[in-house]
Amino acid sequence: MNNELIIEIDNLTVDYPTDNEPVRALDRVDLKICQHDFICVLGPSGCGKSTLLNVIAGFTQPSDGTFLMHGQPVAGPDRQRGVVFQSASLYPWMSVRKNVEFGPKIKGLPATEITRIASHYLEQVHLLEVADQPPFQLSGGMKQRVALARALANEPAILLLDEPFGALDALTRIHMQQLVRKIWQQDQNTIFMITHDVDEALSLGTRLLVMSKCPGTIIQEFSVDFCDRAIDEHTGRVHVDADYLALREEILDLIDV
Ligand SMILES: Nc1ncnc2c1ncn2[C@@H]1O[C@H](COP(=O)(O)OP(=O)(O)O)[C@@H](O)[C@H]1O
Ligand SMILES: [Mg+2]
Repeated sequence: MNNELIIEIDNLTVDYPTDNEPVRALDRVDLKICQHDFICVLGPSGCGKSTLLNVIAGFTQPSDGTFLMHGQPVAGPDRQRGVVFQSASLYPWMSVRKNVEFGPKIKGLPATEITRIASHYLEQVHLLEVADQPPFQLSGGMKQRVALARALANEPAILLLDEPFGALDALTRIHMQQLVRKIWQQDQNTIFMITHDVDEALSLGTRLLVMSKCPGTIIQEFSVDFCDRAIDEHTGRVHVDADYLALREEILDLIDV
């Protein structure tokens, strides 16, 4: 069902303990995330973007405020939230397929179901042909696609992506963006993605959140629909028009604080 509320964050504050004063990374963040949102988070380096993602993932606990998923507090990481980081951190001793099968296996699914799920997501990221290879033989973009398939294989309620294409070359990044857009459109996933690339955010997101510098809070949100209205059939890229350029400038001004 579209627009179902998945995540509700109220007044979220995160302080990291240090030897001296605690570092306040997030300051009173409010955020609601609904089914099929594609949220892109932009903000200056060190403003608390990863901290926000880590709270949603269950890796970091709030110092103050609340974070609820489906109305319940979250005690730690679980398969409801799939995470992909900038570097793929795959299990190097397992084949590509075994990496993707890992989640369904832990879930205790029957062997035939594990195979079916892994094949489905490997096909979705165009990696069936390298399924039996170890990850070290793959390019950076392929590794990120394995990481994506591994996260998707848990069929999470939300996918959390922390600068997932940040280390890739420009062309591979565009291919990855097209792939993620297609998966999001086909499967109606809910995505929360951090990026430092305003064009990436504008061409993929439905909601763009701009954060202040540290301690981070959400200073502005934009609803966008460039991903729906203007994909070039041949290049697969968003058509850049006057609206797009104006919004791009506005966001760059906001980030450049
Ligand atoms: N484990 C930690 N201990 C202390 N300070 C941290 C820790 N993790 C992050 N920080 C600090 O919190 C702030 C936000 O960090 P982070 O969420 O990683 O920002 P971003 O992802 O936007 O670059 C930064 O000032 C960073 O130095
Ligand atoms: Mg970060």
